[in-house]
Amino acid sequence: MPDLLQTLADRLAAAFAEVAPGADPVLRRSDRADFQANGALALAKRLGRPPQEVAEAVVEAADLGDLCERVEVSGPGFVNLTLAADALAGALATMGADDRLGVARSEPAERVVVDYSAPNVAKEMHVGHLRSTIIGDALVRVLGFLGHEVIRENHVGDWGTPFGMLIEHLLDLGEAAALKELSVGDLDAFYREARASFDADPAFRERSRRRVVLLQAKDPETLRLWQLLVAESVRAFQEVYDTLGVLLRPEDVVGESAYNDQLPEIVAELEAKGLLVEDQGARCVFPPGFTNREGQPLPLIVQKSDGGFGYAATDLAAIRDRVQRLGARRLLYVVGAPQAQHLQMCFAVARLAGWLPEAVDAEHVAFGSVLGTDGKMFRTRAGGTVKLADLLQEAVARAEAALAERGQEDEDPAARRAVARQLGIGAVKYADLATERTRDYVFDWDRMLAFEGNTGPYVQYAHARIRSIFRRAATDPPRRGTRPVLEAPEERALALALVAFPQTVAEVAHSAFPHRLCQFLSELASTFTAFYETCPVLRAETEERRQSRLALCDLTARVLAKGLDLLGIAAPERM
Ligand code: ARG
Repeated sequence: MPDLLQTLADRLAAAFAEVAPGADPVLRRSDRADFQANGALALAKRLGRPPQEVAEAVVEAADLGDLCERVEVSGPGFVNLTLAADALAGALATMGADDRLGVARSEPAERVVVDYSAPNVAKEMHVGHLRSTIIGDALVRVLGFLGHEVIRENHVGDWGTPFGMLIEHLLDLGEAAALKELSVGDLDAFYREARASFDADPAFRERSRRRVVLLQAKDPETLRLWQLLVAESVRAFQEVYDTLGVLLRPEDVVGESAYNDQLPEIVAELEAKGLLVEDQGARCVFPPGFTNREGQPLPLIVQKSDGGFGYAATDLAAIRDRVQRLGARRLLYVVGAPQAQHLQMCFAVARLAGWLPEAVDAEHVAFGSVLGTDGKMFRTRAGGTVKLADLLQEAVARAEAALAERGQEDEDPAARRAVARQLGIGAVKYADLATERTRDYVFDWDRMLAFEGNTGPYVQYAHARIRSIFRRAATDPPRRGTRPVLEAPEERALALALVAFPQTVAEVAHSAFPHRLCQFLSELASTFTAFYETCPVLRAETEERRQSRLALCDLTARVLAKGLDLLGIAAPERM
């Protein structure tokens, strides 16, 4: 069952190809018609022909009779396309009859590793990890829905020199007391205390240093103590994941330590391939194309002068493992923008070493910082890192207050709390996802919890409102696949919004930009509102019209709910 917009794109591509092989139609939404194809302009330049003539030739070659009711050349050579109401109605009937709402499975399915969240052991997760977790979760869901085989990897920072001081601090406190402190979730306090001893006490420093050596030598008692810290942290992380309702599980943790045994091999392979260069005692690779401000080549440090392996060695081992052992075809790294150069250098070195073949894509799914409403880095009023558990609790409390203020439908306190949870957590997630991820985003409670604009509550409310139509009328939605009648401009506009769902989902998977789905959902919600305000549904003039509009309502609700679900956001039935 081919998707309407995909069919349109394919037919236009064929028409352009007939005029000149390989020409891109440059198909866009349009204000003047439904769509416009602007490709004739570039093509005309290429062919040295007048653009209008090229556009005419495309229209001549195009086979759009069953899809469009109007196809015309306008302006300097645009092809304006207006879909036929019949084609739209047919597409909606097909979508409605389909449990997948018209979203086809991708062919071929790919094995994709998504590296996301990646907090650090014995440290509080911060808002950067929150972004990674939320964006990663949405991508995992979208890719999974498209039928890809998704492997979640939580590349937790569980190794390195800080563990010397952390273990010594654990011993100083006594195991029981240390675990108690950690179990109340105060990971940062523990880290700060360890740091303070380290800075103040030379003997502690010396013990810490020796402890790192023991850890690296896999001394059993040291490993046991290390494992206590890791387990306690992973448990704390999982609490946040559960509150957030993301798919991450403890089994998805593949920490930095998992690659320890492979690091000497990584160095040896780089050596054997003649890629290693000794630079001030450190062993490095200089991938071509990476230079500093002075234009000097930049090293990726694989082994430090003291023999220790760096963050980069671990990432190289992870790439090799994901490609060779896991058989991944695509690697996504949901990591903050400041690590762009590190990751690009790792990818480049992995390509040189043959661990990342041409056929495997490696993508840095970069994201910007979280800022406070003052435009500075997001912090508590006292200037500390914001604890995620507190943040999420506040989100729920604020959502509850917002619901109370609206005088909401559900009077049962337990049900109200459940909705507040869905609303509050959903608002935080949606706000994060709705901003184009490479940009910084301002964490603003009032804006994210608003029932207007491109917000989670707005989309959730549109869904709940549709469900309430059916509740009030005490009627079930019409048979799925009912073919709607599209006469009013608002009905047509709603149809046009709905049929873009399959393409939007495919685009999110392809580009790793979840904000496109948010954009789609908020536009669908506002298009629905315009429809609902203009076109009587329950009091439609005829029974046929009433069934048609109820079918439009139901399909809209299903698409909104599915879209939210793909973002990891709940769609309450009432609110
Ligand atoms: N643990 C790191 C941090 O907190 C993020 C790790 C990202 N993933 C990776 N494969 N390097 O900044």
